[in-house]
Amino acid sequence: MIEKFEWYDVFVKRDYKPDLENDVVVIFKVTPSEGFKIEDVVGAVASESSVGTWTTLSILPDRIWKLMGKAYEIIKLEGNSLIAKIAYPIELFEEGNMPAFLASIAGNIFGMRRVKSLRIEDVYFPYSFMKFFKGPLKGIDGVRNIYKIYGRPILGTVPKPKVGYTPEELEKISYDILSGGMDYIKDDENLASPPFCRFEERAKGIMRAIDKAEKESGERKVWLANITADVKEMERRLKLIADYGNPFIMIDVVIIGWSSLNYIRDLAEEYNLGIHAHRAFHAAFTRNRDHGMSMFALSKLLRLMGVDQLHIGTPEVGKLEAKTEEVIEYAKVLRESIYRSNEVNRMEQPWYHIKPVLPTSSGGLHPGTLPEVIKSLGVDLVIQVGGGVLGHPDGPRDGAAAVRQAVEAITKGIPLKDYATQHKELRRALEKWGILRIS
Ligand code: 6PG
Ligand code: MG
Repeated sequence: MIEKFEWYDVFVKRDYKPDLENDVVVIFKVTPSEGFKIEDVVGAVASESSVGTWTTLSILPDRIWKLMGKAYEIIKLEGNSLIAKIAYPIELFEEGNMPAFLASIAGNIFGMRRVKSLRIEDVYFPYSFMKFFKGPLKGIDGVRNIYKIYGRPILGTVPKPKVGYTPEELEKISYDILSGGMDYIKDDENLASPPFCRFEERAKGIMRAIDKAEKESGERKVWLANITADVKEMERRLKLIADYGNPFIMIDVVIIGWSSLNYIRDLAEEYNLGIHAHRAFHAAFTRNRDHGMSMFALSKLLRLMGVDQLHIGTPEVGKLEAKTEEVIEYAKVLRESIYRSNEVNRMEQPWYHIKPVLPTSSGGLHPGTLPEVIKSLGVDLVIQVGGGVLGHPDGPRDGAAAVRQAVEAITKGIPLKDYATQHKELRRALEKWGILRIS
C-alpha cells in the first residue's frame, strides 16, 4: 500500500517555532477524510503546498528541507475538524508574485482525497514578504481627499435594474441620483459593455451627468466605472476614464484574476486612479465555513495587492448572507494599521507601508438599515444603496436625498424617525421600508 512509502508526517513539526520575520503562516481549517490520521492529513497539506509529494524520493538535495512547509500547531475543534498552522519560509516564493504564491498555498491541496474539506482562514505576511507589494494607491485618506468628504461615510448608488438601461437612461438616472445627494454613481458588477449600453456611450452620458451635478451642487461627484473585460480592453477603458478626469475605476477583482489585477493596479497608479473592487464570485469559495478561503483572508490578499475600496457586505440587516461579527472583522483588517485578534484562527498582522482600504457595505440597504450599518462599521466606510434608492416611492432623486438625510441624522446623533418629521424624503423611505435592527 501507498502508506509505507509516505513521508507526509515529516511535515508536521510540533516543536517548530514560527519565525514571524521570515515565515508566511497560513491557518487552515482541516477536516480529515475518514480513515486518515491527523498527521497524515495535516502533513499532506504542508507537504503538497510546499515541496513534497505522496512518496519518498530517490533524489532529495539537503536544501529542500529548508524550504518545506511546517505544520507547527494543530488544535482540535468540535466535531472532527481542526485548525492547523503551517509556516512557510519566504524563500519558497517568488517575490511579489501573488498568482504563484496562491498556486502553492491555495493550489492542489484543496482537491486531495485525504482532505474531506479544507479552508484557508488566515494568511500572515511578514514584512519581508509584504515589501514586494504596493498596497492601495490612495487608501482611505486619498479617497477622502478626492471627494473632500471627512467624518461621514461616502455614499453612492448602483442603478437598478442592474443591467438593461441605455446610456441615455443612465445619464438621466445618474443626474437624478447625484443631484439628490449621492457622492458617486456605480456600475453593477455585470454591466460591462453590452450592445445596448456600450462603455464609451455610457461614459459620455454619465460624465455629462456628473459635470452638471457638480456644477449645481458644488460637490465632487464620481463614477465607479466598471472596466471589467480582457486585460487589453481594461487598459483601453481605464485610459478613457482617465481622459475624462474621472478619478476611479471599478473591477471585479476575483473574476479577472490576480495577474490582471496586478497589471491594472500599476496602470491605475500611472494614471492616478483609485480602484473600487467588487468581489463577485467570492462566495463560491468563501461561503462554506469548512472549505475554500475565508472572506477575511481574501480581504487581506486584496489589501496587499492594492485596491482602494472593497465590498464586504453588510451587518445582518442586508440581503447577503453574513454574520455581523465577521463583517466587522473584514472592515478591521482592511482599515487598521495593526490587526489584532484573540481568535484561534487569526494572527496579529502589522501592515507596515500598506495603506488602509475603505470597506464598502452594500446589498439590500435602505435608509432604515443605516443606523445599524454605521454602528457596526463606523464612518470610514463606503455605503452603497441600489434598490433602496431606485425603489423610493417618489423616485431616485428623492431616494438619494433620503439616504443622505439618514446619514446626516446618524452623524448628528438624531434618531431617524425624529429627523424624518422635518425631512420628507426620509419620511417617505421609512414609510416604505421601516427601520431595521439586528435581531
Ligand atoms: C454591488 C454589489 C452588491 C449589492 C448591490 C447593491 O454591485 O454593489 O453587487 O454588493 O448587492 O448590487 O444593490 P442593492 O442595494 O439593490 O442590493
Ligand atoms: Mg451588484
